[in-house]
Amino acid sequence: MPRKRTDILIIGSGIAGLSLALKTSQYADVILVTKKDSADTATNWAQGGIAAVTGKDDDFRIHMEDTLRTGAGLCRPEAVRLVVETAPARIRELMDLGVRFTRREGELALAREGGHSRSRILHHHDRTGQEIESVLLQKARASGRLELLEHHVMIDLLMAPRSRRAFESGHTPRCFGAYVLDEPRDVVEAIEAKAVILCTGGSGMVYFHTTNPAIATADGVVAAWRGGAVVGNLEFFQFHPTTLYEPDTGSRPRALITEAMRGFGAVLRTRSGEPFMHLYDDRRELAPRDIVARAIDAELKKRGDPFVVLDCTHLSADALREEFPQIDEICRARGIDFTKEPIPVVPAAHYQCGGVLTDLEARTSLPGLFAVGEVAMTGLHGANRLASNSLLEAVVFADQAANSCREWLREAPPLPEAEEWSAEGTVNAEEWVLVEHNRDEIRMIMWDYVGIVRSTLRLERARRRLQLLRHEVEDFFRRTRVNGPLVELRNLVVIADLIVESALSRRESRGLHFMTDFPNPDLTGDPQETLLSRYRSSVRADWRHSLR
Ligand code: SIN
Repeated sequence: MPRKRTDILIIGSGIAGLSLALKTSQYADVILVTKKDSADTATNWAQGGIAAVTGKDDDFRIHMEDTLRTGAGLCRPEAVRLVVETAPARIRELMDLGVRFTRREGELALAREGGHSRSRILHHHDRTGQEIESVLLQKARASGRLELLEHHVMIDLLMAPRSRRAFESGHTPRCFGAYVLDEPRDVVEAIEAKAVILCTGGSGMVYFHTTNPAIATADGVVAAWRGGAVVGNLEFFQFHPTTLYEPDTGSRPRALITEAMRGFGAVLRTRSGEPFMHLYDDRRELAPRDIVARAIDAELKKRGDPFVVLDCTHLSADALREEFPQIDEICRARGIDFTKEPIPVVPAAHYQCGGVLTDLEARTSLPGLFAVGEVAMTGLHGANRLASNSLLEAVVFADQAANSCREWLREAPPLPEAEEWSAEGTVNAEEWVLVEHNRDEIRMIMWDYVGIVRSTLRLERARRRLQLLRHEVEDFFRRTRVNGPLVELRNLVVIADLIVESALSRRESRGLHFMTDFPNPDLTGDPQETLLSRYRSSVRADWRHSLR
């Protein structure tokens, strides 16, 4: 088995991974692995922008209040404060690196999105993610102490000790790298590192309809969970209210229609033209995403329509094209002129608000393992993420992680040696088609039974089906020579199961988690504490099973 050794291993090349690579390669040797091309990331698809207090009518207190209110009682206030108060410094760094935010008459142009009580979204037209990703990538490629490996798929984390006895006698295992599949050479190698930072993004591909790129298969959160890390809040999956409705999208990602359009004045209407958001919330189109997505879901169910529409035909055509060039392009490619006709839209899975639990320094519960970005549960989002807080969270916690990782390297014990990867198994072409079937089945179960509105009946139905699939997939994984799609399938079935288990045990409605049989929030006890202890025990139980 080939081996590599380094100080820091970063997994993922979105805004979190690249920001970290730039900062940590100033003081350490860094390897960054990414499973596709470097720019195949959710960051690159982010249209809206990055929230920060820069306007004259705004202040930290208001941004914090908006974040806490949207998070429905589950945000960690220290995390919210940290992110909001350090945002301006991180934005300045991005601008110093060369990121261009849209300006009007020399001033930063600030957009408004749902749940924000001020205009505070910095953006680069409707291509903010692309702008940030390309600047960071260009800088990272120039860094002397960084090795960037594309088409390398993380299979599992390297953990020590690995033995069941050590784990059961209370040793917290330490993470010291990862088994990685080098796809072009078709070999598994061990990358041993003093510190590992997960920046793998989210898990949108677990749902049949998603805005996420194909890479979003929960690789980081599931690998951390298998390694014994505490994960949490997985029941809080954010559905973006407005993605382009196309009858023949199949399981391909749905095109995002940025929330900034509603901030610009676009109105949601039923298919027959009636506005409806005033029936659901005083903030109408600018209510937080959970409320807007549920309102659309209710209208679709009530009327039996396949979509609602987003209408901007009353707004200036020139201003729309100037502000939203990407949406213009997306619509035109489908024969829609959004200045003259409304856009058909439906909700789709968009963002994982839970993830691997971290502290304010981005440390997970496992020594040597850090997590930053969508993969992490820092406490910023709670039960629902405020729009455009995610790119911000990634840059703030990348900075925290870069500092705490430096400390960790000073004290890190010597690196153990990874055990040989067993390359047994065969690729059986006849059975291979089952991987595709299993993947579609998981995604459809999640879409049908674990969506915007849930019930115990639906969740239990999902649980029964997923448990069967989980055994099938694990068995297939053990018998088959490892490859990228199989690694992803193994992660998808586990994250699906974890989301369902989390949803079943939250017997209340809160933020993004809405249960018809428990329609109100449970105001007794501390929901965050209950949640974390529950995860601690479930993690231990399953970790034992996963030991080979
Ligand atoms: C959007 O542009 O609507 C998405 C931005 C986000 O998810 O924060």
